[in-house]
Amino acid sequence: MKNILVVGSLNMDCVVETPHIPQAGETVSGRNVSFIPGGKGANQAYTAGKLGGSVKMLGAVGNDSFGQTLKANLADAGVDVSGIYALEKETTGQAFISIDDAGENSIIVIPGANGAFTPDLMEKKETSLAKMIEKTDIVVMQLEIPLETVLYVKELAASLHKLIIVDPAPALSNIPDRFWEGIDYIKPNETELSILTGKQMKTQEEMIDGANLMLEKGVRNVIVTMGGKGCMLVNSGLQQFFPARRVKAVDTTAAGDCFTAAFALALAEGKSCSEAIVFGQTASAIAVTRKGAQTSIPTREEVESASP
Ligand code: RIB
Repeated sequence: MKNILVVGSLNMDCVVETPHIPQAGETVSGRNVSFIPGGKGANQAYTAGKLGGSVKMLGAVGNDSFGQTLKANLADAGVDVSGIYALEKETTGQAFISIDDAGENSIIVIPGANGAFTPDLMEKKETSLAKMIEKTDIVVMQLEIPLETVLYVKELAASLHKLIIVDPAPALSNIPDRFWEGIDYIKPNETELSILTGKQMKTQEEMIDGANLMLEKGVRNVIVTMGGKGCMLVNSGLQQFFPARRVKAVDTTAAGDCFTAAFALALAEGKSCSEAIVFGQTASAIAVTRKGAQTSIPTREEVESASP
């Protein structure tokens, strides 16, 4: 099996369940509050590890109890956490998440140590980044750490001919074109693709046009996820729709992270792109039926027994 390196964010999610998400100026009584390991990068590393992958995570937390809990949770899923730095002057990233009765969420992220995870910091550590990337086959990233870090790692990984997967979340509108060159897969949802391209994404045709714009910037494959509808794979030779399985979603937090990581893991195991997409869809369809980020990730057995 191929090795996976996840480079990205770690957050402690403070999750409030509420009948509805308050409007500006409104106060509502929530039902309960819980602290759940999260962060887009950590959710992806956790998923790939829990599903049986050989996974290392590179990222930063504060030297505090949240950071220790996040690292321990990843280690429990079999993730190598030796590349997660505990920074003295920073606090661990936090995400404040409200979930309403319909399973919709709103999230405010305080980056903390994730924002201090710069190329300089990585290169100051004793194991050089290039050596770490040399030892891996697949590099998975998101955009919850500084863009310069993602760009730096991407250029190193591309120069070493590694497979690169970027989940462009949270999406930014001002990403330079050279960022996209040499990326094998991106997985935006409709909203993220709209932000990346500056175009509206209401119809399937608009999504295909948006994906083609990303191909023109140098991405090799675009997987546009459309929530409960399914997803669309677009590359230079193909446009293929994959319908979603029908489930009752209670909380969609980390569903995209679960998809990306399960997809990466399936590629690491030698599955085809189409098989990997179906594996990712199956895993994330289970995740949305459960509450929380890392608490919602299924086991390998659960994904296999739900597989079509
Ligand atoms: O993608 C879900 C994640 O986004 C949450 O776990 C939260 O930490 C935010 O980063």
